[in-house]
Amino acid sequence: MAPLTIPLNDGKQIPWLGFGTGTALYSKDAEAAIRVAIANGIVHLDGAQMYQNEDSLGNGIASSGKPRSELFVTTKLGKLPEGKTVRDTLVESLKKLKLDYVDLFLIHMPIHHEGKLKAVWKEFEELQKEGLAKSIGVSNFRIKDFEELLDGANVVPAVNQIEYHPYVYKATAPLLEFQKKHNIVATSYGGLTPIVRQKGGPVDPVLASITQRLTKDVGKNVTEGQVLGLWLRSQGIPEITTSSKEERVKEYVATQTLPDLTPEEVNAITEAGSKVHHRAFCKWLDD
Ligand SMILES: NC(=O)c1ccc[n+]([C@@H]2O[C@H](COP(=O)([O-])OP(=O)(O)OC[C@H]3O[C@@H](n4cnc5c(N)ncnc54)[C@H](OP(=O)(O)O)[C@@H]3O)[C@@H](O)[C@H]2O)c1
Repeated sequence: MAPLTIPLNDGKQIPWLGFGTGTALYSKDAEAAIRVAIANGIVHLDGAQMYQNEDSLGNGIASSGKPRSELFVTTKLGKLPEGKTVRDTLVESLKKLKLDYVDLFLIHMPIHHEGKLKAVWKEFEELQKEGLAKSIGVSNFRIKDFEELLDGANVVPAVNQIEYHPYVYKATAPLLEFQKKHNIVATSYGGLTPIVRQKGGPVDPVLASITQRLTKDVGKNVTEGQVLGLWLRSQGIPEITTSSKEERVKEYVATQTLPDLTPEEVNAITEAGSKVHHRAFCKWLDD
Protein backbone atom coordinates (compact mmCIF):
# COMPACT_ATOMS: atom_id res chain seq x y z
CA MET A 1 0.00 0.00 0.00
CA ALA A 2 1.37 3.45 -0.91
CA PRO A 3 1.67 5.59 2.22
CA LEU A 4 -0.90 8.32 2.74
CA THR A 5 0.69 11.73 2.01
CA ILE A 6 -0.09 15.41 2.53
CA PRO A 7 1.01 18.05 -0.04
CA LEU A 8 3.51 20.76 0.97
CA ASN A 9 3.72 24.35 -0.35
CA ASP A 10 6.92 23.54 -2.29
CA GLY A 11 5.32 20.83 -4.44
CA LYS A 12 6.66 17.93 -2.33
CA GLN A 13 4.58 15.46 -0.30
CA ILE A 14 5.02 14.51 3.35
CA PRO A 15 3.95 11.00 4.41
CA TRP A 16 1.11 11.32 6.93
CA LEU A 17 2.58 8.87 9.47
CA GLY A 18 6.01 9.63 10.92
CA PHE A 19 8.15 7.67 13.39
CA GLY A 20 10.29 9.77 15.74
CA THR A 21 13.60 9.20 17.49
CA GLY A 22 13.05 11.85 20.19
CA THR A 23 11.04 11.46 23.45
CA ALA A 24 11.24 7.72 24.29
CA LEU A 25 14.38 7.26 22.14
CA TYR A 26 16.05 10.56 23.09
CA SER A 27 19.85 10.02 23.26
CA LYS A 28 19.29 6.26 22.88
CA ASP A 29 20.24 3.89 20.09
CA ALA A 30 17.31 4.03 17.67
CA GLU A 31 18.55 1.47 15.10
CA ALA A 32 16.34 -1.47 16.10
CA ALA A 33 13.21 0.67 16.46
CA ILE A 34 13.82 2.27 13.06
CA ARG A 35 14.27 -1.12 11.45
CA VAL A 36 10.96 -2.31 12.92
CA ALA A 37 9.21 0.88 11.79
CA ILE A 38 10.50 0.58 8.21
CA ALA A 39 9.81 -3.17 8.05
CA ASN A 40 6.19 -2.41 8.90
CA GLY A 41 5.82 0.18 6.16
CA ILE A 42 6.65 3.49 7.88
CA VAL A 43 8.69 5.65 5.48
CA HIS A 44 8.71 9.00 7.31
CA LEU A 45 11.42 9.14 9.98
CA ASP A 46 11.79 12.10 12.32
CA GLY A 47 15.19 12.82 13.83
CA ALA A 48 16.98 15.84 15.28
CA GLN A 49 20.47 16.97 16.14
CA MET A 50 19.30 17.43 19.73
CA TYR A 51 18.22 13.78 20.02
CA GLN A 52 21.89 12.75 19.86
CA ASN A 53 21.09 9.58 17.93
CA GLU A 54 21.26 10.55 14.25
CA ASP A 55 24.01 7.95 13.75
CA SER A 56 21.76 5.12 14.93
CA LEU A 57 18.87 6.50 12.86
CA GLY A 58 21.29 6.31 9.92
CA ASN A 59 22.22 2.73 10.86
CA GLY A 60 18.54 1.77 10.98
CA ILE A 61 17.96 3.30 7.55
CA ALA A 62 21.06 1.63 6.06
CA SER A 63 20.23 -1.82 7.43
CA SER A 64 16.55 -1.63 6.44
CA GLY A 65 17.34 -2.25 2.80
CA LYS A 66 14.71 0.30 1.81
CA PRO A 67 15.66 2.46 -1.22
CA ARG A 68 16.50 6.03 -0.18
CA SER A 69 14.00 7.43 -2.68
CA GLU A 70 11.13 5.71 -0.83
CA LEU A 71 12.00 7.26 2.54
CA PHE A 72 11.23 10.71 3.92
CA VAL A 73 13.85 11.70 6.51
CA THR A 74 13.68 14.78 8.70
CA THR A 75 16.31 16.28 10.93
CA LYS A 76 16.28 19.49 12.94
CA LEU A 77 18.80 22.20 13.68
CA GLY A 78 19.64 22.37 17.38
CA LYS A 79 21.48 25.21 19.12
CA LEU A 80 24.11 26.53 16.74
CA PRO A 81 27.56 25.75 18.24
CA GLU A 82 29.98 28.69 18.48
CA GLY A 83 31.88 29.18 15.20
CA LYS A 84 29.72 26.79 13.15
CA THR A 85 27.36 27.58 10.31
CA VAL A 86 23.97 25.96 9.82
CA ARG A 87 25.51 24.22 6.81
CA ASP A 88 28.32 22.77 8.97
CA THR A 89 25.74 21.18 11.27
CA LEU A 90 23.66 19.77 8.41
CA VAL A 91 26.75 18.28 6.77
CA GLU A 92 27.58 16.62 10.12
CA SER A 93 24.01 15.34 10.42
CA LEU A 94 24.12 13.92 6.90
CA LYS A 95 27.37 12.15 7.70
CA LYS A 96 25.78 10.53 10.77
CA LEU A 97 22.63 9.70 8.83
CA LYS A 98 24.76 8.34 5.96
CA LEU A 99 22.61 10.29 3.51
CA ASP A 100 23.24 12.82 0.73
CA TYR A 101 20.20 14.90 1.61
CA VAL A 102 17.33 15.12 4.08
CA ASP A 103 13.76 15.44 2.87
CA LEU A 104 12.98 18.01 5.54
CA PHE A 105 15.22 20.23 7.66
CA LEU A 106 13.58 22.15 10.50
CA ILE A 107 14.58 24.87 12.94
CA HIS A 108 13.86 22.90 16.12
CA MET A 109 13.21 25.79 18.54
CA PRO A 110 12.86 29.50 17.78
CA ILE A 111 14.16 30.29 21.29
CA HIS A 112 17.56 28.85 20.34
CA HIS A 113 18.04 31.60 17.75
CA GLU A 114 16.69 34.74 19.39
CA GLY A 115 17.15 37.77 17.15
CA LYS A 116 18.78 35.56 14.52
CA LEU A 117 15.83 33.78 12.92
CA LYS A 118 16.10 35.70 9.65
CA ALA A 119 19.82 34.96 9.30
CA VAL A 120 19.32 31.28 10.13
CA TRP A 121 16.47 31.05 7.62
CA LYS A 122 18.65 32.59 4.88
CA GLU A 123 21.05 29.68 5.44
CA PHE A 124 18.14 27.24 5.25
CA GLU A 125 17.12 28.74 1.91
CA GLU A 126 20.68 28.24 0.62
CA LEU A 127 20.72 24.62 1.80
CA GLN A 128 17.49 23.96 -0.05
CA LYS A 129 18.95 25.51 -3.22
CA GLU A 130 22.03 23.34 -2.82
CA GLY A 131 19.83 20.24 -2.52
CA LEU A 132 21.02 19.19 0.93
CA ALA A 133 17.46 19.65 2.22
CA LYS A 134 14.57 19.06 -0.19
CA SER A 135 12.07 20.92 1.99
CA ILE A 136 12.68 23.39 4.80
CA GLY A 137 10.53 24.30 7.75
CA VAL A 138 10.31 25.02 11.45
CA SER A 139 9.13 23.53 14.73
CA ASN A 140 7.58 25.01 17.87
CA PHE A 141 7.01 28.33 16.09
CA ARG A 142 4.50 30.90 17.35
CA ILE A 143 2.85 33.52 15.12
CA LYS A 144 5.40 36.10 16.28
CA ASP A 145 8.28 33.81 15.25
CA PHE A 146 6.76 33.43 11.77
CA GLU A 147 6.30 37.18 11.49
CA GLU A 148 9.96 37.71 12.27
CA LEU A 149 11.15 34.98 9.89
CA LEU A 150 8.82 35.78 6.99
CA ASP A 151 9.86 39.44 6.83
CA GLY A 152 12.17 39.41 3.78
CA ALA A 153 12.14 35.62 3.37
CA ASN A 154 12.23 34.12 -0.14
CA VAL A 155 10.83 30.75 0.92
CA VAL A 156 7.80 30.22 3.15
CA PRO A 157 8.44 27.34 5.59
CA ALA A 158 6.73 24.17 4.36
CA VAL A 159 6.03 22.78 7.83
CA ASN A 160 5.67 23.74 11.49
CA GLN A 161 6.05 20.67 13.69
CA ILE A 162 4.13 21.32 16.90
CA GLU A 163 2.58 19.59 19.87
CA TYR A 164 -0.99 19.03 18.72
CA HIS A 165 -3.81 17.04 20.31
CA PRO A 166 -7.29 17.91 21.65
CA TYR A 167 -5.96 19.45 24.89
CA VAL A 168 -4.01 22.13 22.99
CA TYR A 169 -6.65 22.54 20.25
CA LYS A 170 -8.02 25.84 21.56
CA ALA A 171 -4.62 27.35 22.28
CA THR A 172 -3.35 26.36 18.81
CA ALA A 173 -6.36 27.49 16.74
CA PRO A 174 -5.02 31.03 15.96
CA LEU A 175 -1.64 29.59 14.91
CA LEU A 176 -3.32 27.05 12.61
CA GLU A 177 -5.43 29.82 11.08
CA PHE A 178 -2.24 31.81 10.40
CA GLN A 179 -0.53 28.75 8.90
CA LYS A 180 -3.52 28.06 6.67
CA LYS A 181 -3.25 31.58 5.23
CA HIS A 182 0.42 31.00 4.44
CA ASN A 183 -0.06 27.40 3.29
CA ILE A 184 2.22 26.00 6.03
CA VAL A 185 1.39 22.41 7.00
CA ALA A 186 1.23 21.64 10.72
CA THR A 187 2.59 18.26 11.77
CA SER A 188 1.77 16.86 15.20
CA TYR A 189 3.99 15.45 17.90
CA GLY A 190 2.64 14.40 21.30
CA GLY A 191 -0.63 13.53 19.56
CA LEU A 192 -1.37 10.69 21.98
CA THR A 193 -1.16 12.94 25.04
CA PRO A 194 -4.83 12.49 26.06
CA ILE A 195 -4.29 8.74 26.55
CA VAL A 196 -0.58 8.64 27.43
CA ARG A 197 0.17 11.73 29.52
CA GLN A 198 -3.17 13.22 30.56
CA LYS A 199 -5.58 10.37 31.19
CA GLY A 200 -8.78 11.08 33.13
CA GLY A 201 -9.77 14.17 31.12
CA PRO A 202 -12.98 15.06 29.24
CA VAL A 203 -11.78 13.45 26.00
CA ASP A 204 -11.72 9.95 27.58
CA PRO A 205 -15.45 9.09 27.36
CA VAL A 206 -15.70 10.51 23.82
CA LEU A 207 -12.77 8.37 22.65
CA ALA A 208 -14.29 5.32 24.35
CA SER A 209 -17.60 5.66 22.57
CA ILE A 210 -16.07 6.38 19.13
CA THR A 211 -13.68 3.44 19.57
CA GLN A 212 -16.66 1.20 20.30
CA ARG A 213 -18.60 2.46 17.27
CA LEU A 214 -15.64 2.00 14.91
CA THR A 215 -14.73 -1.44 16.28
CA LYS A 216 -18.29 -2.55 15.56
CA ASP A 217 -18.40 -1.01 12.07
CA VAL A 218 -14.93 -2.14 10.98
CA GLY A 219 -15.28 -5.60 12.52
CA LYS A 220 -11.84 -5.55 14.13
CA ASN A 221 -10.34 -3.99 17.23
CA VAL A 222 -9.87 -0.22 16.86
CA THR A 223 -7.94 1.56 19.66
CA GLU A 224 -8.28 4.99 21.27
CA GLY A 225 -4.81 5.87 19.97
CA GLN A 226 -6.04 5.19 16.45
CA VAL A 227 -9.06 7.42 17.01
CA LEU A 228 -6.71 10.26 18.04
CA GLY A 229 -4.77 9.59 14.82
CA LEU A 230 -8.01 9.82 12.82
CA TRP A 231 -8.80 13.13 14.54
CA LEU A 232 -5.44 14.47 13.25
CA ARG A 233 -6.02 12.94 9.81
CA SER A 234 -9.42 14.66 9.56
CA GLN A 235 -7.53 18.00 9.75
CA GLY A 236 -4.85 17.01 7.22
CA ILE A 237 -2.24 16.94 10.00
CA PRO A 238 0.49 14.29 9.84
CA GLU A 239 1.01 12.25 13.02
CA ILE A 240 4.57 11.91 14.28
CA THR A 241 4.64 9.26 16.91
CA THR A 242 6.92 6.51 18.17
CA SER A 243 6.84 3.15 19.92
CA SER A 244 9.07 0.51 21.44
CA LYS A 245 6.54 -2.19 20.48
CA GLU A 246 6.04 -3.76 17.07
CA GLU A 247 2.36 -4.40 17.78
CA ARG A 248 1.84 -0.68 18.34
CA VAL A 249 3.76 0.19 15.15
CA LYS A 250 1.37 -2.09 13.25
CA GLU A 251 -1.53 -0.30 14.93
CA TYR A 252 -0.21 3.12 13.83
CA VAL A 253 0.24 1.87 10.27
CA ALA A 254 -3.29 0.40 10.23
CA THR A 255 -4.75 3.81 11.19
CA GLN A 256 -4.03 4.95 7.63
CA THR A 257 -6.65 2.59 6.19
CA LEU A 258 -9.37 3.08 8.83
CA PRO A 259 -12.47 4.96 7.67
CA ASP A 260 -12.86 8.66 8.47
CA LEU A 261 -14.48 9.81 11.70
CA THR A 262 -17.85 11.45 11.11
CA PRO A 263 -17.85 15.28 11.34
CA GLU A 264 -19.90 14.91 14.56
CA GLU A 265 -17.22 12.65 16.06
CA VAL A 266 -14.43 15.06 15.09
CA ASN A 267 -16.40 17.90 16.73
CA ALA A 268 -17.13 15.87 19.85
CA ILE A 269 -13.38 15.24 20.37
CA THR A 270 -12.53 18.88 19.65
CA GLU A 271 -15.22 20.18 22.02
CA ALA A 272 -14.21 17.84 24.83
CA GLY A 273 -10.54 18.74 24.33
CA SER A 274 -11.33 22.45 24.40
CA LYS A 275 -12.57 22.15 27.99
CA VAL A 276 -9.04 21.60 29.29
CA HIS A 277 -5.64 23.02 28.42
CA HIS A 278 -2.72 20.69 28.86
CA ARG A 279 0.61 21.14 27.10
CA ALA A 280 3.03 18.29 27.74
CA PHE A 281 6.11 19.81 26.02
CA CYS A 282 7.61 23.30 25.53
CA LYS A 283 5.56 24.99 28.28
CA TRP A 284 7.14 28.34 27.28
CA LEU A 285 4.81 28.35 24.26
CA ASP A 286 2.02 29.37 26.67
CA ASP A 287 3.88 32.40 28.10
N1 LIG B 1 9.78 19.09 17.58
C1 LIG B 1 9.75 18.84 18.87
O1 LIG B 1 10.06 19.70 19.70
C2 LIG B 1 9.29 17.48 19.33
C3 LIG B 1 8.90 17.27 20.66
C4 LIG B 1 8.45 16.01 21.03
C5 LIG B 1 8.42 14.98 20.10
N2 LIG B 1 8.84 15.20 18.83
C6 LIG B 1 8.89 14.11 17.82
O2 LIG B 1 7.68 13.36 17.85
C7 LIG B 1 7.98 11.98 18.13
C8 LIG B 1 6.83 11.35 18.89
O3 LIG B 1 6.58 12.08 20.06
P1 LIG B 1 5.73 11.51 21.24
O4 LIG B 1 6.48 10.40 21.91
O5 LIG B 1 5.32 12.66 22.06
O6 LIG B 1 4.47 10.88 20.46
P2 LIG B 1 3.10 10.31 20.99
O7 LIG B 1 2.47 9.70 19.80
O8 LIG B 1 2.29 11.33 21.74
O9 LIG B 1 3.48 9.21 22.04
C9 LIG B 1 4.16 8.04 21.69
C10 LIG B 1 4.40 7.25 22.96
O10 LIG B 1 3.14 6.83 23.46
C11 LIG B 1 3.24 5.50 23.92
N3 LIG B 1 1.92 4.89 23.69
C12 LIG B 1 1.26 4.79 22.52
N4 LIG B 1 0.04 4.25 22.68
C13 LIG B 1 -0.07 4.00 24.00
C14 LIG B 1 -1.09 3.44 24.80
N5 LIG B 1 -2.24 3.01 24.28
N6 LIG B 1 -0.88 3.32 26.14
C15 LIG B 1 0.29 3.73 26.68
N7 LIG B 1 1.31 4.27 25.97
C16 LIG B 1 1.13 4.40 24.66
C17 LIG B 1 4.34 4.86 23.11
O11 LIG B 1 4.99 3.95 23.95
P3 LIG B 1 5.17 2.38 23.63
O12 LIG B 1 6.61 2.19 23.46
O13 LIG B 1 4.62 1.72 24.85
O14 LIG B 1 4.35 2.07 22.40
C18 LIG B 1 5.25 6.03 22.76
O15 LIG B 1 6.34 6.14 23.62
C19 LIG B 1 9.29 12.04 18.87
O16 LIG B 1 10.00 10.81 18.84
C20 LIG B 1 10.00 13.12 18.12
O17 LIG B 1 10.53 12.62 16.91
C21 LIG B 1 9.25 16.43 18.43
